[in-house]
Amino acid sequence: MTAFDLVDFDGHEAVHFVRDVDSGIEAIIAVHSTALGPAVGGCRYWSYEPRGAALIDVLRLSRGMSYKNAMAGLPFGGGKAVVFKRSGLSPYSIFAALGRAVDKLGGLYITAEDVGTTVTDMQVVARSTRFVSGLRSSGDVAGGNSSPKTAYGVFISLQEGWRYLAARNLAGVRVAVQGLGAVGYYLCQRVHQAGARLFVADVDDDRVRRVQREFGAVPVSPQAILSADIDILAPCALGAIVNADTIPRISARLIAGGANNQLATAEDGERLRLAGILYAPDYIVNSGGIICAASEYLGE
Ligand code: NAI
Repeated sequence: MTAFDLVDFDGHEAVHFVRDVDSGIEAIIAVHSTALGPAVGGCRYWSYEPRGAALIDVLRLSRGMSYKNAMAGLPFGGGKAVVFKRSGLSPYSIFAALGRAVDKLGGLYITAEDVGTTVTDMQVVARSTRFVSGLRSSGDVAGGNSSPKTAYGVFISLQEGWRYLAARNLAGVRVAVQGLGAVGYYLCQRVHQAGARLFVADVDDDRVRRVQREFGAVPVSPQAILSADIDILAPCALGAIVNADTIPRISARLIAGGANNQLATAEDGERLRLAGILYAPDYIVNSGGIICAASEYLGE
């Protein structure tokens, strides 16, 4: 089987496999579409086991970016990069190498932060290429860390989705947040301020303790969060968690979260409909971050 035969290789324009000789890093840059402009999407720095999972991930993520950029009305196509996580290398050499690889594509792909990468990493990338965003931040203007903006978009979706279903605001509503990283934390802050009751899970106990302490959240084990007795589920960790196995266990009436590619397959959308669960598509809900990065890149 070749990459062309993968179900997720559907209409991708190009996939670049990168090995940087100086640093030894390995990466994959997928360009799903440039129909609307250069392919824009973040870079994920992650451990993949098995390694082949990285290709599926980057293909699914880059396709999602085409949908997201189009739905947000941005003049960009969809792309994404994954860099294989490895020990023994400084972040500087890893992201300098990524910058060289992105630059060689001559503007076909523009990178930014994603899971496992930071503003500081993108500033290193920017030493080797101008095809990067997510670098600067000043007050409320576009730029820098996009996560609070992503979380704001997720919060609005969650609030409006609930208003549509229940004709009321979030006060007293039970909201489960899976994943308390950059997006999940800021989402918890807003959900708490709106008077909802928070149920949270993360594989990192320190992150759970922080939202417990700051927002009075109730901790739930990562294994139990999807089946917790709740009203709204906000997936803010990794993808494919809504699938044939999990849907029968989900008690939430609404799913609206920041994670990319929450549905494992397209058929899971129909499964959710039959189960009476309203699903707010991730590529619309979580577009706040890319709108912010695009505004920065375009100098708006
Ligand atoms: P992050 O890496 O800061 O946070 C992810 C969190 O999920 C971590 O705390 C991690 O420990 C936790 N986690 C991992 N596996 C878990 C599991 N099985 N159960 C519970 N928790 C688990 O990432 P970030 O930036 O918060 O992104 C979260 C999701 O939102 C990702 O899917 C990302 O692609 C997506 N996203 C992020 C955007 C942004 O602006 N940061 C923009 C659009 C999408």
